[in-house]
Amino acid sequence: MKNDSLKNWQGVACVIGADWGDSGKGRLIDDLSSRAHIIARYSGGSNTGHTVRNQFGRFALHIIPSGIFNKNALCLIGRGVACDLESLVEDELVQLKKAGVSWKNLIIDEQASLTMPWHKLRDGLREEFRSSKIGTTRRGVGPTYADRTERVGLRVKDLVSSDFKDKLFEETQIQNKFFNLKLNPTQIYKKFLKFAKLVKPHIGQTIPILKKAQKMGKNILFEGTQGSFLDVDFGTYPFVTSTNTGVIGIWRCFDLHPVEINHVIGITKAYSTRVGAGPQPTKLDGKERQIIIEKGQEIGTTSGRTRDPGWLDLVIIKAAVEFNKITALAITKLDVLTGFKKLKVCIGYKIRGKNIDYLSGDADFLAQCRPMYEALPGWSEDLSKIREFKKLPQNAQNYVKMIEKFVGVPVKFISVGPQRGEVIYV
Ligand code: IMP
Repeated sequence: MKNDSLKNWQGVACVIGADWGDSGKGRLIDDLSSRAHIIARYSGGSNTGHTVRNQFGRFALHIIPSGIFNKNALCLIGRGVACDLESLVEDELVQLKKAGVSWKNLIIDEQASLTMPWHKLRDGLREEFRSSKIGTTRRGVGPTYADRTERVGLRVKDLVSSDFKDKLFEETQIQNKFFNLKLNPTQIYKKFLKFAKLVKPHIGQTIPILKKAQKMGKNILFEGTQGSFLDVDFGTYPFVTSTNTGVIGIWRCFDLHPVEINHVIGITKAYSTRVGAGPQPTKLDGKERQIIIEKGQEIGTTSGRTRDPGWLDLVIIKAAVEFNKITALAITKLDVLTGFKKLKVCIGYKIRGKNIDYLSGDADFLAQCRPMYEALPGWSEDLSKIREFKKLPQNAQNYVKMIEKFVGVPVKFISVGPQRGEVIYV
């Protein structure tokens, strides 16, 4: 990537979580989207929680791209997204309507799989029966993709087909039989018929739209979900989500090859967090944990669960940089670390005293890893009004520079407060 500011980005860009998600993608997308002609969501389902605070208010979006506030851009929901219409219609559209935000510019791919009530029930039941729980959000995402892979799930295009009722009745009955559920097909049909009427004008083919825009040299921004280590293939399996949250997800969803992406922006908080089960080598306990949870308001947007904070884990971030070919980093919540006398940063792992130089995408492996830390002096000054990197306290600058040096890509965006504009473009 050229050494220019992200503020003036051009071409094709994507935002990818560099660790386990919840890193502030919503606010970065909201910021970058003013230059976008297209904002395209490529993975996940309503398990995602993207928080956006802007002049319209505060929003928690799950399916709708965080770029929806830019009236001049088209927002696409790609075929790789588990489309949860209960979330979209009954929660997200309600928030947008209340704030007077239009959703005219939204197009949902006709081939996206629908998350149906049985998927949510199955997600919950699976978790209850498992002895080792994944800690899913119970939004039905795993079962939606399982059905897609099995080639049996309903898709968005079925909503507007003449045999929708037959398909839905048949599928409900199969699910009731297979999983011993007691779902009423008539009730589900009535509800989804209402959804269908509402979303019908928004159903389309997203790939040709995207390809045409790309040919015309328009700015395209891909909105990722969760984080690289929740990716079903590269993450800490089985404590992962069911899609490709990394750069490969864009290819699968929009037929746009990763080499065509000009800016691969990896995003992480200034510390690590993880929600749900699964190993996190730098997990904190005691006083430091409490301070970060309170100052960082580390409560899940989707699930309401407390996120586990940890020291920044550069081993994880460097691995995400390498497998996504990240070209720039965005660091959020630097202000939350204000007040710590000493900050630790993980720079390596050991297993039984031996240095580890390969990060296997396997939860058992990561659970054995013991972090090696470098300690850096902290800072006590308020960062929220600072808009230039050079005006940050020297120790905060050193913290950021150390990250850049370790992972080998420049830090181009730093957030120093939750509101739109409380950012530094480096
Ligand atoms: P699922 O995606 O709901 O199946 O959950 C699988 C794992 O991914 C669980 O550990 C969840 O806590 C985690 N997860 C899912 N969505 C998110 C997210 O948006 N942010 C952070 N963690 C998530």
